[in-house]
Amino acid sequence: MINDLFDIKIGYASPKNPIALASMAGITDSKFASGFTHAGLIILGGYNLDQETNDAARKEIERGRKEFVSDNPMGFLKTELEAASKPGTPGTPGTPGATIAVNVRAASLEPFLEAADIAKKSGAILEINAHCRQPEMLAVGAGEALLKDLEKLCGYIREIKKTGVVLSIKIRANVVNDVELAKAIEKAGADIIHIDAMHPQGVDFGAIKRVRNSTGLFIIGNNSVVDFETAKEMFSRGADMVSLARAVLHDHNIIKHLVDEVSSFQALTGWYNAPKHICAGGDLRALAFCCLPVKPCALHGALKQAGLSAEEFMKIKLKFAKGTPIEYGEGTCFGSMTWCCKITKPCYLRDGALESSGLSDVEYMRIKKRLSEYIRKHMKT
Ligand SMILES: Cc1cc2nc3c(=O)[nH]c(=O)nc-3n(C[C@H](O)[C@H](O)[C@H](O)COP(=O)(O)O)c2cc1C
Ligand code: SF4
Ligand code: SF4
Repeated sequence: MINDLFDIKIGYASPKNPIALASMAGITDSKFASGFTHAGLIILGGYNLDQETNDAARKEIERGRKEFVSDNPMGFLKTELEAASKPGTPGTPGTPGATIAVNVRAASLEPFLEAADIAKKSGAILEINAHCRQPEMLAVGAGEALLKDLEKLCGYIREIKKTGVVLSIKIRANVVNDVELAKAIEKAGADIIHIDAMHPQGVDFGAIKRVRNSTGLFIIGNNSVVDFETAKEMFSRGADMVSLARAVLHDHNIIKHLVDEVSSFQALTGWYNAPKHICAGGDLRALAFCCLPVKPCALHGALKQAGLSAEEFMKIKLKFAKGTPIEYGEGTCFGSMTWCCKITKPCYLRDGALESSGLSDVEYMRIKKRLSEYIRKHMKT
């Protein structure tokens, strides 16, 4: 039922909702995760896959950090995945219903390949940790070191994808050029980019928008999500899913609370991660809500970014709308709902047109979502 509500598919993975538990080394193992079965995605780990990263983790433990270490890393990974896929009761391992991912670190390609096979066999997602910035990990070429060696990271992605695993790359924003990084990750064949939108002055929601505007990757937005308002900030910039780490340590119920909120929002609006309007800072998906290009406004800058002229934009929208219920819209600003705003913007003119066409709010927004995908296909950038 909830699967149908969101209809999220990433290769063989179908998370039941867009709320994820993010990995925290030394904390998020299968036992901890069993308390968060409401989540759409549970990211276990980070696990260290080879001697180099396990030794680095041991050094971190010596200075007081929490880490998962093992002398038999692949055996440990298998045991954790088996435990996580068992039907469990709170307090014991087992995460029924949630999609599982494993966040992993390694100093070379081979351990990632072995872990990819293990993850794929249990239907889990593999997440390369290109995010950790602990000096011991950087020294062995793991974690964030991969962001600074794009050729190596992309080489890893290409090889790992040959195993058929669904692959996520966890990155930290504002370390390198995020757009170039995301484009390279997409080109190499990864499925998901998990973005910690960290910025020295606070959360950089713009990082999510920049990546949304330049790739078709599935985006998990992360950093400082603490309630539905902050989750919506990520969703409306283009995140397909949001993840939480620290917040769950303070409020054990926050995942369930967010799942309830986003489920109600989706049931009411039909597009849980709809963008803000372009003039309110939305990403290029919001071209679906733009007016006829007849006045000077932010639309023109967005069209330039999309590589489209105003005339091409008009033709694309009209071609899509032809024969759909949004073609009509007597009494609206431009005579057709093709040019109408988001359902969350109150407007009695559009609501009148919706009523005359017998179109529900949810159906209207679903058509607008398809329109945004259609426009994206026609963009020249
Ligand atoms: C104690 C702790 C351990 C973490 N370990 C990992 C890790 O192993 N792998 C990883 O990709 N991110 C790790 N992170 C980062 C989180 O997954 C997340 O990206 C970060 O905390 C920002 O999100 P938040 O504001 O929801 O906490 C860790 C964070 C914390 C607080
Ligand atoms: S066309 Fe309309 S919705 Fe789009 S940016 Fe301009 S004023 Fe905003
Ligand atoms: S009729 Fe309402 S929803 Fe449609 S473009 Fe005008 S203000 Fe926006």
